[in-house]
Amino acid sequence: MRWVTLCRQNDLLENAGVAAMYEDIHGDKHQLALFSLIQAGKPHLFATGNWDPIGKANVLSRGILGSVDEEPVVASPLYKQHFSLISGQCLEQPDCSVPVYALRLQGDWVQVAEQDYI
Ligand code: FES
Repeated sequence: MRWVTLCRQNDLLENAGVAAMYEDIHGDKHQLALFSLIQAGKPHLFATGNWDPIGKANVLSRGILGSVDEEPVVASPLYKQHFSLISGQCLEQPDCSVPVYALRLQGDWVQVAEQDYI
C-alpha cells in the first residue's frame, strides 16, 4: 500500500471539512473531502470523496458534520442527505454511497491510503 501526503494537520478545520486533491498511481486526480471530527477532546480524521452522487457536485467538504445513532456523518449542503464517514453509505438512499479513504498522521502530515484503481 502506498500512502500519499495531502496536507498538514493544521490545514484541517475542527468539526468541518476541507477539500483536497490527490493524484493516484495512474496520474488520475481525485477530489477528497477531509474531516477532523473532535470526539472526547481529540481529533478523528475521516476522508470521503468530495463528489455528492445525488447533488452531482463536488461539495461534501462543505457539508455539516454530525452523528446519527452515534455514526459520524456529513450532510450534503445540497439536498442534505447524510453520508456515513465510516462506510460512505447514504442513510436515506440505500443504493447510494460515496467512497471512503483511510487516513493516517505521520507526524504533522496527513496521508491517504492509495486506492487500487482499475
Ligand atoms: S448513486 Fe445516486 S442514487 Fe445511487
